[in-house]
Amino acid sequence: MARRIAFINYKGGVGKTSLIVNTAACLAKLGRRVLLCDLDTQSNASIWLLKLDRWNKINAAGEGALYSIFDPGRAKLQDIVVPDVVQDKAGAKALPGLDLVPTTFNLVDLESEYEGDPKRPAYLIFQQQLAAIEAKYDFVLFDCPPNILRASQCGIFSANEIYVPANPDALSLIGFTLLVEKLYKFHALSASFRTGAMGPAAQVQGIIFNSIKTGTDIEVSKMRMQLRLNQYKTAKRAAPIAKIFDAQVRDAMVVRRAVTLGLPVVLVSHEASDEAQDNVVNDYRKVAAELVRQGDGL
Ligand SMILES: Nc1ncnc2c1ncn2[C@@H]1O[C@H](COP(=O)(O)OP(=O)(O)O)[C@@H](O)[C@H]1O
Ligand SMILES: [Mg+2]
Repeated sequence: MARRIAFINYKGGVGKTSLIVNTAACLAKLGRRVLLCDLDTQSNASIWLLKLDRWNKINAAGEGALYSIFDPGRAKLQDIVVPDVVQDKAGAKALPGLDLVPTTFNLVDLESEYEGDPKRPAYLIFQQQLAAIEAKYDFVLFDCPPNILRASQCGIFSANEIYVPANPDALSLIGFTLLVEKLYKFHALSASFRTGAMGPAAQVQGIIFNSIKTGTDIEVSKMRMQLRLNQYKTAKRAAPIAKIFDAQVRDAMVVRRAVTLGLPVVLVSHEASDEAQDNVVNDYRKVAAELVRQGDGL
C-alpha cells in the first residue's frame, strides 16, 4: 500500500513546495514510484515540474487539472495524472517514476464557487478517486497551501502522515501550533466519512527544518519546537514516534535556480554526483532517507 503523506504548515514560504518536490525527486531516484499531488492554487509545484509552457496550456484549457474532477466533474484523477512529469530540454523523460496531479489557478473556485453535494464533500471525492490509482505508487505526496480549506482537506483527509516544514523562527512555531488545532477540528468534522480501509487519520509524524543559513544557531528554535511537539505527543495530538528530523536542508542558491530551470535540485546541481559530499542535494537525500525510515516505525 502507498504511504500517503502531506507536507503542511500554517505558515507560507517555509519551503513546503521546495521540500516536497525535491524529496519526491530523491525518492524517484531511489526507484520508488511517486505521485505528487499539487493542492495549492498557486500551482508552484505544477509550474516548477511542468515548466511554464506545458503548465500554461493546461491552465488556458481550463480542464486537465485538479479542479476538473470537481467541476465539470467529467474527468477522474487518473485522467489528469501527468506520468513521468520531469522532462529535459528535448522533451525526453528526465526522472521516470515521478508523476504529478497538476493544479492550475481555477482550483481557487473550489473554495467559494463550488457547491457540490454536502453528503459528498470534495475531500471524499478526491480520496475515492485516489484510492482507484494509488496501488501504482509507493508514495503519494500532497503539497498543501498554508491552511486547511477545501483543497488542503483533500490531502489531509487522504493522508495518513503529516510532515511539517519549518524555518528556525517563531512564526513557524505558531504555524505548527495553528495547524495542530485546525487538524483536530477537521478530523472531528470528517470522522463520519472515514472507513477502516483508509487507515488512521493523519497525525504529525515529523518536523523538517529548511532554509538554514550557514552560521545560524538553530538550537533555540529547535528546542522550542521540540517542547511543543512533546506537549502534543503527551496530549495524543501528534504521533508517538513524531520527531524533529535529524536531516535539515540548508539555504542554497541552487534551490531557487532549480525552480527557474523547472527541474528538481538533484537534476540541476553539479554537486549531485557525489553522494558523500556535504551539500544541499545530499540534505534532500537525507530527508528522503529519513522519511523512508520513519515509515518503518508506523
Ligand atoms: N533551502 C532553500 N534554499 C534557498 N531557498 C529556498 C530554500 N527552500 C525554499 N527556498 C525558497 O523560498 C521560497 C519559498 O519556498 P516554497 O517552497 O515555495 O515555500 P512554501 O511552499 O512553504 O510557500 C521560494 O522562493 C524557494 O525557492
Ligand atoms: Mg508552496
